Amino acid sequence: MPVYGTRPEAIKMAPIIQALRASSDFDPVVTVTGQHREMLDQVNDLFGITPDHDLNIIQPRQTLNGILSKTVSGLQDLLAETRPDAVVVQGDTTAALGGAVAAFYLGVPVIHVEAGLRSFNLFSPFPEEANRKMISQVASLHLTPTSGSKQNLLREAVAEKDIAVTGNTVIDALLTVAQRDVPFAEQALADAAGSGQRLLVVTTHRRENQGSAMEGVGRALARLAQRYPDMLIVLPAHRNPVVREAILPALSGRSNVVVTEPLPYAEFARLMSLAHVVLTDSGGVQEEAPSLGKPVLVMRENTERPEAVEAGTVRLIGTEEERVIAEVSALFDDPDAYQAMSRAVNPYGDGHAAERTLAAIRELLGTGQRVSDFSNAGS
Ligand code: UD1
Ligand code: UDP
Repeated sequence: MPVYGTRPEAIKMAPIIQALRASSDFDPVVTVTGQHREMLDQVNDLFGITPDHDLNIIQPRQTLNGILSKTVSGLQDLLAETRPDAVVVQGDTTAALGGAVAAFYLGVPVIHVEAGLRSFNLFSPFPEEANRKMISQVASLHLTPTSGSKQNLLREAVAEKDIAVTGNTVIDALLTVAQRDVPFAEQALADAAGSGQRLLVVTTHRRENQGSAMEGVGRALARLAQRYPDMLIVLPAHRNPVVREAILPALSGRSNVVVTEPLPYAEFARLMSLAHVVLTDSGGVQEEAPSLGKPVLVMRENTERPEAVEAGTVRLIGTEEERVIAEVSALFDDPDAYQAMSRAVNPYGDGHAAERTLAAIRELLGTGQRVSDFSNAGS
């Protein structure tokens, strides 16, 4: 039973669900918590996934405790009735934590996809660092994207036999949609694609950046738009009203800023491929953009995804207004600095993570053998 609730989980779970459905030895029971609604449904629709069960827990301005308690209580009867052989959760959201706790309490083995990421700061990202550590405590099988994330778990005394390095399924998903070359539904984006302007693609939503930090990012974007008339800022806005209230006011009325609703994943992937620079606090975008050869400036103080930072295509810049302006300007002004960050690297996957995931699950369930680990050596 895959259990998930938000957009990034849906994207990263989709290749696994598709592989489970395509194999004769699994009977997947897809369960969504509905922590996200529009952003979740958008992804499931794209990948042709109709959930078997939907807890539909979403509330406007929902709290962490509200999400967790509704997820756990919603799963109680469903798990007790369905008795799956295992529950699969992905990443570090509260949906994933709730799925893991509910399954563990009922004695159902927990399989954790994208395990072992650590920022080593319990409060950043909040609450994700805590969520993923708690999931690690109750998981029976830990599927890590990289050897570095495996090392993190070994340092926490997780048994090596319970860990498989699969690569990140986000690369499987990205490769699937990148081939589609979809048209943009919004005219402003179709115009942007053909404009010849240099695109600065921006996403932001992290809880710890909400409020004054995000307002500062809004002001930085407004000043950048003014400084560079040939820059076109494209910001697909997260559905969270708290995010919109912070970032959008400074941007209204600017001709070279395009704000959209959350884009369907295939359109967002195309937008990234057209970007000059990506500015984000997203986890998934940090993994995808490097494989498209796009420089990524990450508006955070730390990251649990050090591999692309080490490869030189991702830079941590925080959220301070002047720093955001300086770092974006450096990439727009200095061709050498730009070139140095524009190499395509693939430290997070090779497109076969879902296959490795299924093989490791078969081994856990005693119906097959796992395959060789993903290696990013030399990527
Ligand atoms: C959640 C995850 C975060 C993940 C992010 C991906 C937690 C605690 N946070 O954060 O780890 O990186 O998703 O985007 O699990 N909303 C809608 N429609 C939607 C989605 C959200 O209206 O389709 C609104 C909700 O009503 C909610 C707000 O946005 O009040 C925030 O959603 P929530 O899931 O609580 O937090 P995110 O910041 O999205
Ligand atoms: N994404 C999308 N449409 C958008 C913006 C992002 O499909 O308008 C995708 C993006 O490609 C990545 C995922 O959403 O795969 C990241 O989700 P988000 O930033 O919400 O969460 P995080 O990865 O930070 O948990």
